[in-house]
Amino acid sequence: MRKIIINGGKPLTGEVAVSGAKNSVVALIPAIILADDIVTLDGVPAISDVDSLIEMMREMGASVERNGETLTIDPRDVKDKPMPYGKINSLRASYYFYGSLLGRFGQATVGLPGGCDLGPRPIDLHLKAFEAMGATVAYEGESMRIATNGGQPIHGAHIFFDTVTVGATINTMLAAAKAKGRTVIENAAREPEIIDVATLLNNMGAHIRGAGTDIITIEGVDYLHGTRHQVIPDRIEAGTYIALAAAVGSGIKISNVLYEHLESFISKLEEMGVRMTVEEDSIFVEKQEKLQAVTIKTSPYPGFATDLQQPLTPLLLKTDGQGTIIDTIYQKRVNHVPELARMGADISILGGQIKFKGVNSLVGAPVKASDLRAGAALVIAGLMAEGRTEISNIEFILRGYSNIVEKLTAIGADITIVEE
Ligand code: EPU
Repeated sequence: MRKIIINGGKPLTGEVAVSGAKNSVVALIPAIILADDIVTLDGVPAISDVDSLIEMMREMGASVERNGETLTIDPRDVKDKPMPYGKINSLRASYYFYGSLLGRFGQATVGLPGGCDLGPRPIDLHLKAFEAMGATVAYEGESMRIATNGGQPIHGAHIFFDTVTVGATINTMLAAAKAKGRTVIENAAREPEIIDVATLLNNMGAHIRGAGTDIITIEGVDYLHGTRHQVIPDRIEAGTYIALAAAVGSGIKISNVLYEHLESFISKLEEMGVRMTVEEDSIFVEKQEKLQAVTIKTSPYPGFATDLQQPLTPLLLKTDGQGTIIDTIYQKRVNHVPELARMGADISILGGQIKFKGVNSLVGAPVKASDLRAGAALVIAGLMAEGRTEISNIEFILRGYSNIVEKLTAIGADITIVEE
């Protein structure tokens, strides 16, 4: 078992460069299955979710070359063989294989997706969209078979999502890119990762209009050619490092940041009194003095991202006063709360909301990362705390934060991974 060990309280300064977006790349890789030629991605983060997807792509018959942050995939020999449970269950985004395999072969038999435990995470809206496009859905043990009659191409459909969902919006775009006819998605999610996937597909020759708005129209095409695509910067990784810099930094520049993807987050930090300077593609966070407590309410993009609620919590604990976090996307996204309490935080869950009160200091403790963003919160708390923090279950953290230990060591943190 591997653990992260942090000796907290060190002054951190310097620069952290943000990597490519996890929640984009986990959709971009499966999207390449739809291509009729070779596709290259630049800016691919060094995270274990990418390692898992590469393994799955190879298992399906794709040839994949990885050279630093560049990934070149030739999907022409991909077969529509069943992809059972096993690896598939190691991440949530394996559900994108449903859309891309269905779009290419008219059928997909893929294990049920896994991912972080944030409470119930249904995929009913993905399945409803596939059904509207002519596929039938059947559970086969721990897999799901989604197929048209006789592997016919699926057809376009008019789809209205009654919940705003990133995954189902992207999955429908994947299935629709090569479908017969037009697909319209209403009440679509508007996250930047959706635009990134649409950009890749359009650069391959797809006809997708409206990504980034709540109505997306896709005219199916027969052929998608090869292309080269730069993955957008990870806005959640950027937000995590901005929160970290405000919590423990003595002047830290976060680079490769797109400010327009982080407006709701930055405006919340400004409300707290965080002093920072926004530059063209970076944000400089100063050493902070006194911060005000605020209420955080998550909502779909462009609202405050649920994925940043947990990484922001340690900084909230440094504020003067008390506040509330209301996660309207995942009400049970609270795995960080008992662990922060073990480190001396005055934080609890009351009526489905997180209530906190600023404390003078945290103390190092053995804690457990039960999901990716809870893990990020514990890393920040460990850097803030006096003494030694030992984080277990770090596989969750390494799923989504590229070279986190190296990036933090470079700005002066005392952080190591140990094997036990
Ligand atoms: N929902 C349904 N039915 C569905 C799909 C979603 O009821 O068929 C509900 C969910 O239960 C949730 C809401 O709709 O309450 C939004 O879920 P969404 O589909 O948008 O989430 P997701 O696509 O499964 C992605 C990110 C998550 C991020 C959410 C919300 C990926 C691989 N995951 O999940 O990222 O929290 O959108 O923005 O893109 C993370 O990076 O730590 C992470 C969990």
